[in-house]
Amino acid sequence: MTSADQTKRNYERRPYPNTDPKKIVSGGGTLPPLGWMQAIGRPGRPAPQRVLVAGCGTGTEAFAVRREWPDAEIVAVDFSPRTIAVARRVQRAERLVRPITFLTADLTDPGLARLTGGDFDLITCHGVLSYLPQPGRVLRHLAACLRPDGALYLGVNGEAHPATRLRPWLASFGLAVDELKDERRLRTLLGLWDSLHDDDLGELSTMSASYLGGDICGPHFNNWPLAQWRAEANRCGWEIAGTAVHPMALRLTMERAHHRELFPASPADLAATFDQARPAGFHRILLRRAPAGGLDVLAPRPSAPALCWTGFFSVRFSTPKARRPVTATLRCPTFDLRVDLPLTIAQVDTLRALAQTKLAPATWKNTWMKNEASRRTLWLLSALGAVAVQAT
Ligand SMILES: C[S@@+](CC[C@H](N)C(=O)[O-])C[C@H]1O[C@@H](n2cnc3c(N)ncnc32)[C@H](O)[C@@H]1O
Repeated sequence: MTSADQTKRNYERRPYPNTDPKKIVSGGGTLPPLGWMQAIGRPGRPAPQRVLVAGCGTGTEAFAVRREWPDAEIVAVDFSPRTIAVARRVQRAERLVRPITFLTADLTDPGLARLTGGDFDLITCHGVLSYLPQPGRVLRHLAACLRPDGALYLGVNGEAHPATRLRPWLASFGLAVDELKDERRLRTLLGLWDSLHDDDLGELSTMSASYLGGDICGPHFNNWPLAQWRAEANRCGWEIAGTAVHPMALRLTMERAHHRELFPASPADLAATFDQARPAGFHRILLRRAPAGGLDVLAPRPSAPALCWTGFFSVRFSTPKARRPVTATLRCPTFDLRVDLPLTIAQVDTLRALAQTKLAPATWKNTWMKNEASRRTLWLLSALGAVAVQAT
């Protein structure tokens, strides 16, 4: 039996995250805010019309997408027939006005775009690619399912995922970890592990059997640093538009002006640099198809790219006073972020226009690229996620 078959069998036995209709319909759990996916993944674009939930489990993620975008067409696929049967049963009981199309489909199938109808604005794939031997195959198939201005959200394991150390540790006690078999013994050992760990992951010994069967036990794990996920994605024609961690980390570096060392790193470089210093257990990554010239606002290119306001921050300006720079206060309630930036009057004008109309005039480069200080401010705005190169 291949490791993919074994993974499928595990999920057939224990559909993820559970089979309880109430929890499935109301849970959102570990998904990052969907508004963030839209703002950073599809900057300057209206709400998505078609969304694919790739590896949807029993439907929690798809129902969360339905709540966020009530008018979108949603297709949700999973390769476990039992899992899809649970999702359909829950949906029937819910009587949604706009039902979700739940399909049994394998993401490694080259015919995925045809099976799902393709043409998606947004794809979410949370907690799936870490357990596949060849995640690159799926990244290519998902690319074929996406519109050119679309985005892919990936939730994947990082180097610091507990399973990285836990699996060899459990094996040292003689436990077979490729499949969740001896659940009682596993829970006893996890209790021992929990007593030695006081982190914010919660008590592993109390997690559901579906979680333990998928996230701790299983035949295959890609617990990779961000740099490795990035390299794999780049190979398949994707570029990182943002991560859910790097804006907060960047903000921390700004407290004592250490961020200057990082200029002019792209959001993807920043994310990899931060992850190298402080490895994450789980990455929340937004990817776009790699356009010519990339997504970096500072990248040299023949014509000025359309710069747009992502809508992920609000901005307020201080009252102009003689010979004092104006301060722009950017706030992002979702990530509890506040940043103060000193601006020139010309910068205030374009930023105000940008925040109001969402799109900068084609001449924005004259204001923002003219000297090192302006470029650094533009870089900060882009690295935090307030402005972006519009998806083409
Ligand atoms: C950890 S669960 C995550 C479910 C859901 N995304 C969530 O966050 O609630 C992983 C899901 O991916 C599905 N899966 C794994 N490999 C797959 C593949 N090659 N094709 C389709 N689904 C797959 C599994 O059956 C399982 O339901």
